[in-house]
Amino acid sequence: MCGIVAGIAQRNVVPILIEGLKRLEYRGYDSAGLAVVNQGEIFRKRELGKVKGLEALIASDPIAGNVGIAHTRWATHGKPSTQNAHPHVSKDKVAVVHNGIIENHDHLRTVLQQDGYVFTSETDTEVIVHKIAQELQSTDDLLAAVKSTIATLQGAYALGVVHADQPDVLIACRKGSPLVIGIGIGEYFIASDIAALLPVTQRFIFLEDGDMAELTINGASIQDEHGKRVVRPVIESQLKADSVDKGKYRHYMLKEIYEQAWAVSETLEGRFVNNKLQDTAFGHNAAEVFDQIKSVLILACGTSYHSGLVARYWLEKYARVPCSIEVASEFRYRNPVISPDTLVVTISQSGETADTLAALQEAKKLGVKHSLVICNVPESSLVRESDLVMMTRAGPEIGVASTKAFTTQLVALQMLLIAVGRRFELSREMEDNIVSELFGLPGNIEKVLKLDETIEVLSQRFADKHNALFLGRGTHYPIAMEGALKLKEISYIHAEAYPAGELKHGPLALIDAEMPVVTVAPNNNLLEKLKSNIQEVSARGGQLIVFMDEELAESSDENVQIIKMPSVANIISPIIYTIPLQLLSYHVAVLKGTDVDQPRNLAKSVTVE
Ligand code: G6P
Repeated sequence: MCGIVAGIAQRNVVPILIEGLKRLEYRGYDSAGLAVVNQGEIFRKRELGKVKGLEALIASDPIAGNVGIAHTRWATHGKPSTQNAHPHVSKDKVAVVHNGIIENHDHLRTVLQQDGYVFTSETDTEVIVHKIAQELQSTDDLLAAVKSTIATLQGAYALGVVHADQPDVLIACRKGSPLVIGIGIGEYFIASDIAALLPVTQRFIFLEDGDMAELTINGASIQDEHGKRVVRPVIESQLKADSVDKGKYRHYMLKEIYEQAWAVSETLEGRFVNNKLQDTAFGHNAAEVFDQIKSVLILACGTSYHSGLVARYWLEKYARVPCSIEVASEFRYRNPVISPDTLVVTISQSGETADTLAALQEAKKLGVKHSLVICNVPESSLVRESDLVMMTRAGPEIGVASTKAFTTQLVALQMLLIAVGRRFELSREMEDNIVSELFGLPGNIEKVLKLDETIEVLSQRFADKHNALFLGRGTHYPIAMEGALKLKEISYIHAEAYPAGELKHGPLALIDAEMPVVTVAPNNNLLEKLKSNIQEVSARGGQLIVFMDEELAESSDENVQIIKMPSVANIISPIIYTIPLQLLSYHVAVLKGTDVDQPRNLAKSVTVE
């Protein structure tokens, strides 16, 4: 949801900011802009479309400066256009980049217009820059002007601010949107995500909510929301600049699909002693928390919500742990009834999804005492606000369509099943079984990835289709949902998932030769039921693609194409059956020529409601 990057240095910051923007493009990519201060003037370039357009614009008409701010946009207020692209400027003196949403922008705009400020965009952000300019009429102190401006703002923001007459200072602040400071040698940067700054530094300060920072080439001075000077810890990131490269792959998504065996091993690493999962894998006081809880409530959005849906089946089926799950954006406004001894589990790749964060805060307000986050980004807001943490360690995920984050979330949720389940009714035998299957999982993932070429061929059947159905039952119903989500996200084919038992209650009416029906049919207790559902579709001329265990005797016929999957234990099959669906949507998208890693209208990190 918009990416910002800015810096102050003794060298020209423009190439650093352009590279930073490219690395933040997963957050939004409908327009981009950059402004630098040079000799008492602000030089600004903005371009509709992706960062490479902005880069070309600057290459044809270069700008340079030692302090600058840059932005890649995901439109909320105002359509994607050059006029609406950031940075926004007031009186040719102040420039601002913003990530977040200012909720009271209408009111502020009216007041500022009455005071003579002329608006040139439809954005909520423009009120910020004019307000700062207005505050600067009574002070020369840019920090003070930003401070009194943010006191008038309602909503969420991460800001970078520069002033034409103050080339030696860059102001940053955040509330509700992420922002990190990158520490170089005699140079300082800010960005929405550390990935933007890895080419220039591995040392970061994660600003806390409400923090403001004044950056010069000599240091970063930080104050908290009460205006008190604070020292925040400096964190050394283990990530290298090339951890966010595509490597030999054509797209990040494909690279991330192929990284799953490795990512799963990383997620399991160091969490077992003598094959026994340690409660401390969730935090030093996890045992104490797990001993007290009576139920689990999972809150998440998008793909992360799908992993939670699988976990509900697991927790209830294998361990009799009462478990409910809800989409975070619904939970937060529903005023639900919730018992204090519930463990609230949020699941989030980014750790910054606004609705998930707000849902956690709402659960706490409603009296919940214990929270756990399953997350892929250390130091993210959800990690900071949760009592217990299980990191998925999938490495940076850049493709907007989530893949390795999902499978590692499922692995983390199996560990949760063990840790909580053993306090309920999970048998010792089942626990040992899960552990041994988890250790074998990377090998099984490698096996299923060998289906890539088969699936690439299969993808041709979707090239001219406008709709698709995905069917599954039990733990594989959420996998069908995830398959449908992947296909619609990146190939723009309308795809819906149904629990196969619901077919007769409506979707069967849609079946014809133009509607591919993708079915996830592992060898479990529901297989016979699912086979009947497959027959129902086939009898009506529907075209089925069925992912099925290699040990089953079924073979393809005129209406049913069977893809044989490695035979795996039930407990891990949702993870294994996810992978061909990821590959399918990937190859369909490539065939259709869509922008696989940056599909239209979407963004990876949804930091606004
Ligand atoms: C966006 C992304 C999805 C993701 C969802 C939740 O919609 O495009 O891939 O599943 O946000 O994000 P989170 O970071 O909380 O998992």
